[in-house]
Amino acid sequence: AHSGLPVQGGNVVAEFGVSELWDPAVRRDPHGFYDRVRDSGGPVLQIDPAGNPFWVIAGHADVLEGLRHPAIGHEVHRHSPGSWQPALHELSEVARIEARQLINLDPPDHTRLRGLVSGGFTARAVARLEPWIGDLADRLVARARQHGRIDGIADLADPVPVNVIAELVGIPESDRPRFRAWSAAIVSASIDGPAATMEFGAYLDELAARRRAVPADDLISQLVTLEEQGDRLDRDELVALVQLLLVAGQETTVDMIVNGIRLLLTHPEQWQALRDDPSLAAAVVEETLRFRGPVEIVPPRFTFEDVEIAGGRIPAYDRVGLSLWGANRDPAVFERPHVFDIHRTDVRKHIAFGHGIHFCLGAHLARLESRIMFERIAQQLPGLRLAADPTDLDGFRLHQDGLPLEV
Ligand code: HEM
Repeated sequence: AHSGLPVQGGNVVAEFGVSELWDPAVRRDPHGFYDRVRDSGGPVLQIDPAGNPFWVIAGHADVLEGLRHPAIGHEVHRHSPGSWQPALHELSEVARIEARQLINLDPPDHTRLRGLVSGGFTARAVARLEPWIGDLADRLVARARQHGRIDGIADLADPVPVNVIAELVGIPESDRPRFRAWSAAIVSASIDGPAATMEFGAYLDELAARRRAVPADDLISQLVTLEEQGDRLDRDELVALVQLLLVAGQETTVDMIVNGIRLLLTHPEQWQALRDDPSLAAAVVEETLRFRGPVEIVPPRFTFEDVEIAGGRIPAYDRVGLSLWGANRDPAVFERPHVFDIHRTDVRKHIAFGHGIHFCLGAHLARLESRIMFERIAQQLPGLRLAADPTDLDGFRLHQDGLPLEV
């Protein structure tokens, strides 16, 4: 059906290779690709590695429109006459839990679930964690100072989100080693992932029962006491939510902290500016999110009907890739978009946390964690420098290779 590549309903696609998005050279630096997509006058058709059509949109206004569009969403089986979806009770526990995750739902299920959980993630709710996160950051930075050479990922960034999520959810101190092990298996989607999901689910059942009996000041208690107030989160929804917090909150936040450090250390005047005035840490957070946010393309959506968007048309039931990296470097919105500049005044228009109904639930928390880390690093590790050739660090795989630093 998609063999007629060159022009489809006004979309200009002739100048693009069909799978350019997955090409290793584009993986190393996708920004040139997104610049061309933005300038092409239509959504650009790509064929994903599984052979499915995948329409890329990269302009700021067009990505916003896509994120808000009522006929672009996740639950395509509700709209496509041909597609068949197994009933929930026919799925394995792991698949059933994934299907209940907020991030995979459309209204009305999304609306209901998000309404039940959003109270735990407001700016006020997460601000209470600031002293606790500050202590954690102080401990990590103090430990780094005792070593001459550290890995920015393992020693600074990686321990932050998992411990903060444990604290927010209310995992007792004595269970945290187990929690961190489950988290690592679930987040890495390793072969131990399904077993970890089951064990973690059983553990949460137990913890929820304890908190139902004796509530504490934590998210689990808040979620189980909802039950007494009419509308409720069922068991799978509770497990799915806590698991999603790990999956959505761990790697993203680590990526953001590590890239912030890397960008500061490769822009010495800006690193100096932060050391002179640590209150610039919030600006470092925002510019890092804009310039190199953790999410390149939001989890793919589907069209529920033919959709006119971004100057072209996408056929019904096709996959849509809305690029946050493209949007955040759109010259129509950001001056000198390819320059990292913590002093820019237009940074707040970035959409690194998405937009609309799925706007990142953990945005306040992620901003708080990374702001505190940048502050503490500037104040307490002023001699920090890269212990590797920066040109080796630009690539997409930074995350797996570590960030060697000298303190
Ligand atoms: C959703 C980015 C950290 C929890 C999202 C979305 C983005 C995003 C772009 C929207 C996805 C979509 O539209 O499909 C980020 C970035 C982070 C970060 C850049 C760090 C810098 C966190 C943290 C948590 C979290 C720390 C929780 C502890 C979630 C959840 C959703 C979500 C639950 C789904 C919301 C929904 O579907 O309604 N995030 N995230 N995220 N994020 Fe984050």
